[in-house]
Amino acid sequence: MNFGFIGAGNMVSAIVKGMTTGTKSYEGSCIYITSKSGTSAQELAKITSANYCKNAQEVIAASDILILGVKPHILPEILPQLKKEIASKNPLVISIAAGKTLQYLESLLQPQTPIVRVMPNINAKIGASTTGICKNAFVTEKQLSDAKSIFETIGSVTEIAEEQFSVFSVIGGASVAFAYLYMDALSRAALKAGMPKKQALEITAQTVLGSAKMILEAKEEPWPLIDQVCSPAGTTIEGISTLQENGFESTLTKAFDAVLNKDKWIGEKK
Ligand SMILES: NC(=O)c1ccc[n+]([C@@H]2O[C@H](COP(=O)([O-])OP(=O)(O)OC[C@H]3O[C@@H](n4cnc5c(N)ncnc54)[C@H](OP(=O)(O)O)[C@@H]3O)[C@@H](O)[C@H]2O)c1
Repeated sequence: MNFGFIGAGNMVSAIVKGMTTGTKSYEGSCIYITSKSGTSAQELAKITSANYCKNAQEVIAASDILILGVKPHILPEILPQLKKEIASKNPLVISIAAGKTLQYLESLLQPQTPIVRVMPNINAKIGASTTGICKNAFVTEKQLSDAKSIFETIGSVTEIAEEQFSVFSVIGGASVAFAYLYMDALSRAALKAGMPKKQALEITAQTVLGSAKMILEAKEEPWPLIDQVCSPAGTTIEGISTLQENGFESTLTKAFDAVLNKDKWIGEKK
């Protein structure tokens, strides 16, 4: 089976590296890549022993699975010119474009094209993406399984109903940056209190990692855990109360809503 990539930027690099050099699950020889300038595709092809293609037509001609790795606003520029080639080769088309719905993608391709929509996140670079996936009516179970296998090389994959995709984009996508900001703010506070920033950031990140494992592996809910950490008249309850009094939870809810609304707006924009 051959895999084609149109675009060779940040996310495609993470995926192709995950498939090849990262997990060694796929041979570079079955991967075909192109990009606008050609330079990024050539560099990625060289590192991963994949095939560089001069244009998207060459990629489509070689592909059983075609991954659209360009920015969302580029899709309406390139797909109308490529849709005949895509229809005659009939690969499974995978889009990683943020906010772009299956219905929107269907409108740019020939009727009955099998399409999978995927939302990875930037932690794909170290094989730790939380990836959401959904499909249209023309995708077979085998094709869905093939698509999942690709994204399992860059982390975990969860099937999401398309109507929940915007929600997923917030908690599985944008919240990566929320988590980075949380860790940065805490380690800056530690810096203010005299600890070197690098050491503080490492400790904060390890603590977030451990806390995430408690929820995932020990299957614990957050509030019982918070209760265990807060001793009567102790130190932690002071911090929790201060966070609550200053709108920590309501601010997160507002941030969630802001991302959700923007994601839906991008999805509706043609
Ligand atoms: N980055 C993330 O964290 C992230 C997370 C989830 C989803 N995504 C999605 O992933 C997609 C790519 O994002 P990115 O961050 O990887 O973008 P990026 O780094 O800017 O890469 C975009 C790629 O598209 C290529 N390109 C642009 N126009 C083209 C054309 N006409 N024909 C062929 N290739 C073309 C560019 O070629 P050149 O290299 O020659 O300029 C570049 O390689 C987006 O749809 C985004 O929504 C990204």
